[in-house]
Formats: sequence, structure tokens, C-alpha cells
Amino acid sequence: MKFATKAIHAGIEPDPSTGAIMTPIFQTSTYVQTAPGENKGYEYARSQNPTRSVLEAALAAIENGKYGLCFGSGVAATDAVIKLLEPGDEVITGNDLYGGTYRLFNKVFAKFGIKFIYVDTTDVRKIEAAISSNTKLIWLETPTNPLMNMTDIAAVTAMAKPKKILVCVDNTFASPYLQNPLNLGADIVMHSSTKYLGGHSDVIQGALVMNDTGLREQLYFIQKSCGAVPGPMDCFLVLRGIKTLPVRMKQHCENGAIIAGWLAQHPKVARVYWPGFDDSKNFEIAKKQMTGFGGMISFELKDDSIEAATKVLSSTNLFSLAESLGGVESLINHPASMTHASIPKEERMKNGLRDSLIRLSVGIEDAGDLIADLAQAIG
Ligand SMILES: Cc1ncc(COP(=O)(O)O)c(C=O)c1O
Repeated sequence: MKFATKAIHAGIEPDPSTGAIMTPIFQTSTYVQTAPGENKGYEYARSQNPTRSVLEAALAAIENGKYGLCFGSGVAATDAVIKLLEPGDEVITGNDLYGGTYRLFNKVFAKFGIKFIYVDTTDVRKIEAAISSNTKLIWLETPTNPLMNMTDIAAVTAMAKPKKILVCVDNTFASPYLQNPLNLGADIVMHSSTKYLGGHSDVIQGALVMNDTGLREQLYFIQKSCGAVPGPMDCFLVLRGIKTLPVRMKQHCENGAIIAGWLAQHPKVARVYWPGFDDSKNFEIAKKQMTGFGGMISFELKDDSIEAATKVLSSTNLFSLAESLGGVESLINHPASMTHASIPKEERMKNGLRDSLIRLSVGIEDAGDLIADLAQAIG
């Protein structure tokens, strides 16, 4: 099946009890057993729920993996992966990461004796140089939030595999429509399903997809033991979102290209971060591992001040000032004070995340209307 067909059909059967074409929302906490231990495969909804099982199968299909697992948020999915590790283990990760991932690593897990080493993952040699005998996991985010940096997934997995180091890729920005890390050798793909998978800014959810049965068993054990599972209504919403992922992503990509090009020639804009520019350092990797360049764009103003950025951020009408991304509606965000505020300023500046940096999640509205909105806001 091609992607658009899989998005609608894969993992989904009409409900066996009624024939309902849409997967029912099994709003139940438990399941009646005919005798102790005799059941229909469902015992208690933290461990299994039929709406969630269908979503997990659909996620596996669109990421070209064998197994999917859903969590109560993207951060809960990340949390489950780190719980595979033990005190003393080391994780190598990027220095340009979603702020909540950085916070989880440094403020929650570091105190349990897991060591996080931040390097520029766009350079595979820097990852290799940071490896020690304790390295158990390489955590990649590509493209990164918010600087759109790209890591060559196939090069990292080829280097890590012989050393038996797991590679997990946060694929939230690309979505499975644009990039499939398992095809490039990754062991686990992570998603904030809150974003493009859900697509309508009405759900918080996370997902992991993998091929290895042993890894699936360990992560399923963590899912049911720690209990960060999503409710059935939220699973239904993400299932419905996935059905339109291909058509939405086509429009996000088309609008992203138009707006990135327009911003790049604007006299008040200093720099635009979007992987589709052929002079960008990310272009060759993006072309190799993604099927399009997406609708996430960041840009800096020539007046690199919080005040100048605030003026733009408070003047848009169609772009709503909000955290999050990947919904049908366009959003505008100020990483320094919003999504990445948990990263200390000196650390943020060192990694190129400047005061005037503005991040756009370009929606699927008319591109001309979106440009008119940005034009009046930038002035
Ligand atoms: C790249 C990335 N990864 C992970 C997350 C965390 O996901 P959630 O907010 O669903 O917990 C986010 C949220 O913005 C994100 O942008």
C-alpha cells in the first residue's frame, strides 16, 4: 500500500461487534471476564484498550514498523524510552532540542544518575567522539525545533549499530509523511502525536514505533507499569487525524515553501531557517532522507531584540500566538520566551537560538492570506 492508502486503511478493520466503519471509542476502564483469567484479550484499560490497539497498529503501518505504542503525551513517550536505561548509562543527544525534552533529561532523569551529553548531532563525528563504554542511547531530533537543523539518520545508525547503541529519532517535525527513520536504521521512532498526527490542535498524545520484539516488550512493560496511557477519545482523534495526514502535509509543504521564499527576500528579515533552501547546510540531508521540506519555518529579524520580536508576535491576526505546531491553523511562537524558556539563556545563545528568533507553524490556509498577515505584522 502507498502512504495515502495506508493512512486511511492500515491497521483498521470495521468494528467486529457491529461493523461500524469508524473505530468505536471504547470508553471503559475494565472488561468482564467469563472465568478468572478467561477474557477476550482485554483485562484492564491501562494495559489494553481496543481503540488504542487500532491506533497503535495504524501508527506502526505509517512508520513502516512492526509495533506502535501510544502515550499520554509526546513527553511521556520520551520518558518511556529513557526508562529503558539504568543509573550510570549515558545518552548522546543534540544541543538544539525541544525545550521540554531538554527539561525532562536534565531536570528529571539526570538526578537518577543518567548522563546526557549534548553535541552538534549534525556532525556524525562529534557523536562518535562523545561515545564511551556507558553510551546506551543516541537521541536525535531531526529536523530540530526550532532551528531546523538536520542530522543524517542513516549515517548515525550505521555508526551506532556495530557498537550496539540504540538510536531513537523524534520525528515530530517531519511526520511519517515526510520521513521514516526506521527505514534509515533507527531502532525507535518517537512522535508528539499532538502535532501533525492529530493535526487539529485538539489532543495531547505521544507515540513510539519500533521493529524489535524484545524492545516492544520492554516498552510495553514500561507503558503499563508507569501508566502514562492516552484515553480512548484521544486515540480516536489521532486515528481520525492520521486519515488526512497526507493531504494536510501536501498543503503544509506547499504553503511552507511560499512563505519561506517570501520571508527570505524581506528587508527586515536577517535569516530564514527552512530546510528547502538549496543554499542551506541542511539541504542535501533533507533531500536524501525526507520527501518534502514541511511547513515549519524559523526566522530572525535584523533588529535582533526581544522588543522587535514581540512587536511582530503581537501584531498577527491569522497566525495565532501559541505554543505547539502541526495543526491546520497557522501559529507563531517565540522560542526564547515560550517553548525553549526552560533552556538557560547562555546555553540558548551558544546554540544559536537568538532573542528575535520567531517560529512559524504554517497551516493550510490560503498562502496569500498568510503572507498578507505577516506583511502587516513585520511592517
Ligand atoms: C519536537 C518535539 N518533541 C516532543 C514534544 C513533546 O510533545 P508533547 O507536547 O505532546 O508532550 C514536542 C512538543 O512541542 C516537540 O515539538
